[in-house]
Amino acid sequence: MKPLQNDTFLRALRRQPTDYTPVWMMRQAGRYLPEYRASRKHAGSFMQLCTSPSFATEVTLQPLERYPLDAAILFSDILTVPDAMGLGLYFEEGEGPKFERTLQQEEDIQALQVPDMAKLHYVFDAVSSIRQALDGRVPLIGFAGSPWTLATYMIEGKGGTDFLTAKKMAYARPDLLHHLLNITAQTVTQYLNAQIAAGAQAVMIFDSWGGALSHDAYQRFSLAYMQTIVAGLTKTAAGEPVPCIVFTKGGGLWLESQAAIGADALGVDWTVDLGEAKRRVGHQVALQGNMDPAILLSTPAAIEAEVARILASYGHGHGHVFNLGHGITQWTPPEHAHALIQAVKTMSPAYHQA
Ligand code: CP3
Repeated sequence: MKPLQNDTFLRALRRQPTDYTPVWMMRQAGRYLPEYRASRKHAGSFMQLCTSPSFATEVTLQPLERYPLDAAILFSDILTVPDAMGLGLYFEEGEGPKFERTLQQEEDIQALQVPDMAKLHYVFDAVSSIRQALDGRVPLIGFAGSPWTLATYMIEGKGGTDFLTAKKMAYARPDLLHHLLNITAQTVTQYLNAQIAAGAQAVMIFDSWGGALSHDAYQRFSLAYMQTIVAGLTKTAAGEPVPCIVFTKGGGLWLESQAAIGADALGVDWTVDLGEAKRRVGHQVALQGNMDPAILLSTPAAIEAEVARILASYGHGHGHVFNLGHGITQWTPPEHAHALIQAVKTMSPAYHQA
């Protein structure tokens, strides 16, 4: 394998000088790309893409063939973890993820165990296969869901429920929820460390539903467990530091407490002003974000104006990874994603001159 040829993303996460602002997009391999839709059809289903290392490699590389992105992200899903914990993940066409079993009864939660990582070998095989195929072009990001975000799916059995059953447990039986979160945090730590061992060069924790919690509940039921995971992560692999990004969607109110858990970078959605976020976290962490993915549905001119605004808001200095504030939508015209990436490449060098 060739040594890494473009380390701009890893340097930005470490707040080291770079020539421009690196860019990648959450869900960059997905349904907005016709070649992704063709691969999914060929594989038969989304889960077959995830469980086959060769399909996972093919779709991970698709956005990199089109655009000069600065990072690749493992093609998989956060819900592989509860699936390995025995919940039975399935997808119904057009309906999003569901589980055959839910965790609501005390005896089911008490019986929960950290699964054998061998059940997730297809993910680690995909990581090694993607690293081989990338051949040093850009770094590979591994990822997992936060314990709270995974718990919402494990308790509710599906998304889109306003998390009422999970929240009821938080308030009525905090001991049970803490037990579930504790086992899940141990699982996620082992899962991310196995991805790092297989070749992931950075890792990201997706706390997609942390923003649904109250101020106090967020600290106790989400952030505390992400802190446990960060503390347990492998810090270097093959002599290189492995940075960690923590992203709570809707978590802009809590940046100061997020910055204190030991992660290298925080993901931020579009509800915060990036310049203000930078002042709030100081020199503790790098920032990743924060364009509203809906802007990609507009026009190239509007996209360029928004890129200019976000870059100016972060201002001069290092430590920014350009990204969307959440996943790219399936209705994005691929040429609009290109306009975003080109605009970052063209406009950002001015902010990195000494
Ligand atoms: O960013 C990437 O390119 C890597 C791939 C990736 C996927 N899911 C692929 C995917 C990543 C990082 C995820 C994370 C994920 N999965 C999260 C956290 C990030 C977020 O979006 O908040 C969550 C909550 C999930 C759970 C999940 N998986 C949902 C709610 C859905 C259905 C919604 C949708 O967009 O259809 C999925 C399915 C899924 N995961 C798809 C992809 C490309 C679409 C499946 C398809 O091809 O039909």
